Amino acid sequence: MEVIHSIADLRSRISEYRRKNDGSVGFVPTMGYLHEGHASLLRKARSQSGLVVLSIFVNPLQFGPGEDFERYPRNTERDLEVAEAAGADLVFMPTVSEMYPTPTRTTVAVSGLTSRLCGASRPGHFDGVATVVSKLFHIVQPDQAFFGLKDAQQVAVIQQMVQDLNLPVEIVPCPTLREKDGLAMSSRNVYLSDEERKQALVLSQALDKAKEFVQSRPNFHAAELENLVTSHIASAPLAVIDYVEVLAFPSLEPFENSTHTDSIILALAVKFGKTRLIDNVILQLRK
Ligand code: PAF
Repeated sequence: MEVIHSIADLRSRISEYRRKNDGSVGFVPTMGYLHEGHASLLRKARSQSGLVVLSIFVNPLQFGPGEDFERYPRNTERDLEVAEAAGADLVFMPTVSEMYPTPTRTTVAVSGLTSRLCGASRPGHFDGVATVVSKLFHIVQPDQAFFGLKDAQQVAVIQQMVQDLNLPVEIVPCPTLREKDGLAMSSRNVYLSDEERKQALVLSQALDKAKEFVQSRPNFHAAELENLVTSHIASAPLAVIDYVEVLAFPSLEPFENSTHTDSIILALAVKFGKTRLIDNVILQLRK
């Protein structure tokens, strides 16, 4: 495994690979502080691609004022161990000035899909994500890129961007990995105190309740599902709900009813102390 810091070096290593090999290039973009969820993306990339490229870059553009850019957890030594064990070939770790050498005057904005859920609570966040991911796609030029469905809105936004800009990359959505007790894996879980960590279990429990509810009531209303989930989460005294929403997936349009929608997402964002956690479940309403 090779660690690369400059765009020019990464481009030349990938072109060299392409000159000498027929295999595809698989790409896993991350912000580091890798956990088993990231490792599962790398393993999937390893199983499908000839060359596996991982990027580790905490992208300032996707953090709003007062968010956790400065204190976002970082641990390069451990990240490199995880990356190597999971099968990465190249690890791209640019500095902020390598990625944004001059003030950025070009951004990529995906409209519609970004006005709800995290897009509503974190204005500008998805412009930052779409901009950095499109830059990374231009640099790496991957055949496939692997993204976790814990941030299902991000997957939907990137799929839309790829379609709209005719980018020649296949987006491979991968399932959310969970701790044994159900908490979705996230680099931000490290911020939680013991008590917050314990109470955060209401999130996956609420999603399980939602799954059961949908199975037993084919003609449910979005509001019934949202109320069920909201009241379970509210049973945790430390939980401060940002949103609990049911939308059609992947369009993220309002969910009308099960006659017109094949697949829905129940997505939530909840704060425990200073830590904002997201989670979701995607439900197929018809086979
Ligand atoms: O999901 C993330 O870690 C980030 O949003 C991404 C896709 C690496 C862009 O910075």
